[in-house]
Amino acid sequence: MKYMNIKRYLVTFIACTLSVAALALEKSDFVRPDQIPFPTDNPYSVQKAALGKMLFFEPRLSRNRNMTCATCHNPSFGWEDSTKTAVGAQNTNLGRHSPTVLNAAWGDLFFWDGRASSLEEQAAGPIESNVEMNLPIEQAVSRLKEISAYQQWFADVFGAEGITANNIKKAIATFERTVVTGQAPFDDWVEGQEAALTEQEQLGFELFIGKAQCANCHTGWNFTDNMFHDIGLSGDDVGRYGITKQEKDRFAFKTPSLRNISQRAPYMHDGRFTTLQQVIVHYMSAGINRPTRSDLMEPFALTTDEISALEAFMLTLTGEDQPVTLPTLPLF
Ligand code: HEC
Ligand code: HEC
Repeated sequence: MKYMNIKRYLVTFIACTLSVAALALEKSDFVRPDQIPFPTDNPYSVQKAALGKMLFFEPRLSRNRNMTCATCHNPSFGWEDSTKTAVGAQNTNLGRHSPTVLNAAWGDLFFWDGRASSLEEQAAGPIESNVEMNLPIEQAVSRLKEISAYQQWFADVFGAEGITANNIKKAIATFERTVVTGQAPFDDWVEGQEAALTEQEQLGFELFIGKAQCANCHTGWNFTDNMFHDIGLSGDDVGRYGITKQEKDRFAFKTPSLRNISQRAPYMHDGRFTTLQQVIVHYMSAGINRPTRSDLMEPFALTTDEISALEAFMLTLTGEDQPVTLPTLPLF
């Protein structure tokens, strides 16, 4: 992490003095990885991912058998949903916008406030939460045990352990790690196809890493530093402070990836912005100036053309994703 920060400041410094060289350097910092990282205590297998996919789309994991992970993490909306803040069981409003599960394999801490430290840990949360799927995990286990096809699947994947709460979480986490954004025009450009981005889009990238300072936080191939920042938005949600109780974390939220951002409106932890233009206008003002606001937030001015260029650049981050097929779920 330290190394990354030093590198980032160096890059910013060079960018100010020598923009062409800096651009080449920056490009190489955005190269797609060629492998998905899987943890050693929950390695990948084709079957485990297939089982996890079934569970992700499994309504019987919710008390009223009417809600799945995909209700709120819908592949049609970039693996999140189109409501400002998610709506859970009994139509309860969850108060926060559903984040995407795209590229979660590269995540570090999960939830807007980082309260889960792995996808495995995260997965039980929504099943059990009374405002989400509202089903105690032990009941989820016994429901699945009544379905003989699931007994077979779990036996094939996990051996004698079979259906347990932990194995449900492991299978779901494995599937989630396979949800990765496809090759985008930006990736083609990074890999050397100059014509993959228009001049306007390239100007947008220069602004992104330069004057607009977006890459201070949205860095690396997944366009996130996986850290928490107060970006000066209004509202009562204290974000990361609720978990750490450290004053510096008040109003800080996790930096989201910008991959496939065009499919993922509305934006921010409370879905307050419906367009990328509104997002850019917020950053130009740097939001509310208060002690907790990140030092990386500073007001800046863009012309109308530059705003369009920055937006055009962000649209080049949408990958050519394969259509998502729905799993067939066993009845018995
Ligand atoms: C009712 C809507 C809803 C359902 C159902 C739901 N989620 Fe979520 N999910 C959310 C919301 C809202 C958040 C953010 C909550 C927060 O940060 O406090 C979230 C956060 C997450 C995150 C963290 C992403 C990140 O980048 O930090 C993951 C992963 C996730 N959910 C996976 C799942 C899985 C797996 C299921 C099914 C077992 C599921 N969700 C069911 C709404 C939902
Ligand atoms: C200080 C770090 C920081 C800087 C600088 C920054 N961002 Fe962000 N960005 C964040 C954080 C943190 C969030 C989530 C904030 C929230 O929801 O409260 C976010 C959210 C977003 C979102 C919404 C993503 C989503 O999934 O809802 C977009 C789009 C975005 N930023 C684009 C930009 C652009 C464009 C710039 C440059 C003009 C920029 N950001 C500069 C940290 C930063």
